[in-house]
Amino acid sequence: MTTGAAFDVNKVRGDFPLLKQQVNGNPLIYLDNGATSQKPQSVIDAIVRYYTTTNSNVHRGVHTLSQLATEDYEGARAKIRKFINAGEDREIIFTRNTTEGINLVAHSYARHNVGPGDDIIVSNMEHHSNIVPWQMLCEEKGANLRVVPIDDTGELLMDEYEKMLGPRTKLVSITHVSNALGTILPAAKIVQMAHAHGAAVLLDGAQAVPHMPVDMKELDCDFYAFSGHKLFGPTGIGILYGKAEFLEAMPPFMGGGDMIKSVTFEKTIYNDLPYKFEAGTPDIAGAIALGAAVDYVSNLGFDQITAHEEELLRYGTEALSSIAGVKLIGTAAHKAGILSFVMDKAHPHDIGTILDEQGIAIRTGHHCAQPVMQRFQIPATARASLAFYNTKEDIDALVKGIDRVLEVFS
Ligand code: ALA
Repeated sequence: MTTGAAFDVNKVRGDFPLLKQQVNGNPLIYLDNGATSQKPQSVIDAIVRYYTTTNSNVHRGVHTLSQLATEDYEGARAKIRKFINAGEDREIIFTRNTTEGINLVAHSYARHNVGPGDDIIVSNMEHHSNIVPWQMLCEEKGANLRVVPIDDTGELLMDEYEKMLGPRTKLVSITHVSNALGTILPAAKIVQMAHAHGAAVLLDGAQAVPHMPVDMKELDCDFYAFSGHKLFGPTGIGILYGKAEFLEAMPPFMGGGDMIKSVTFEKTIYNDLPYKFEAGTPDIAGAIALGAAVDYVSNLGFDQITAHEEELLRYGTEALSSIAGVKLIGTAAHKAGILSFVMDKAHPHDIGTILDEQGIAIRTGHHCAQPVMQRFQIPATARASLAFYNTKEDIDALVKGIDRVLEVFS
């Protein structure tokens, strides 16, 4: 692993066993990091270590293994608290994924704070997981879902957002980085403007945390949700950060074991934070391995990660823009490593299939963001999404793959 030294992408790639394989007779070029990232050996080792040495339940046993598992599980929580610069460990809730974090806020916070005629604000570039829970809630409560429009580059129209805010705004739930376009939103400003109107703010950080440092104190958001698997950790584990004063005032999302202090048929006393929101046996191995992923990313350092990815994005944007018949969708000035594109002659699914024959993995389709496709009046895009282990050679292979698509459809 590279620590503090100059960024050596080949050395970093050596930490990711999956990247060494061939797919369809070609070296794998993995450009689907927006869907899920690959895992370094240290994350895989953390899962194996847990199941081979300390596997047992957390917070439940006086026996040694249970205490060791609890120490590792709570240790992971502390690492994640530090990683996002939250104030307290109890503000870090383990969930399954970003979707679960958003649904937790919808069911536990919004259901009790949003009423008939109130507004919930989202943007036109949300993932379905940051649209559907609010639609469901608005339907239940008779509230309104307001949508901030975006311009042709994929930037949020801040003046429209400003106009939408008012006394009826109870919650603003907006992505930090668009999964379909790559736009980095001015999150701190969005939060500040919502707070000026007394509204709470949730940020969907799923596509932000793998690419840039996120700081809860700087952002000042009330909730921040992200997934472990996009951050080089395993699937099935995610994080909801919530300010303690919000989480304290919220009722539990799910009832069950570990979220209680005492239960009788007459009355149940709920547990303290964060356990109040962690009913049932959690994904212990997943949490510990997410801690290992956070260690890995922290050791590499965002200075190096961001600089490398910005260079790749610049290189890729230039390369794809210069191919006749290829159009980039999402050209905002501030972007994370996403290259979404369409081609005059080929449907995105055909592009994806032809690239796959060459060992190149991208995602094609609506990216769980159909309103973005509607905004750009396209059915789908082909999306190459980058991580710090990608190289300029990966981009060159993508360009060569697109040339092959052009040949097939000529
Ligand atoms: N939300 C993930 C993506 O953008 C799955 O691909």
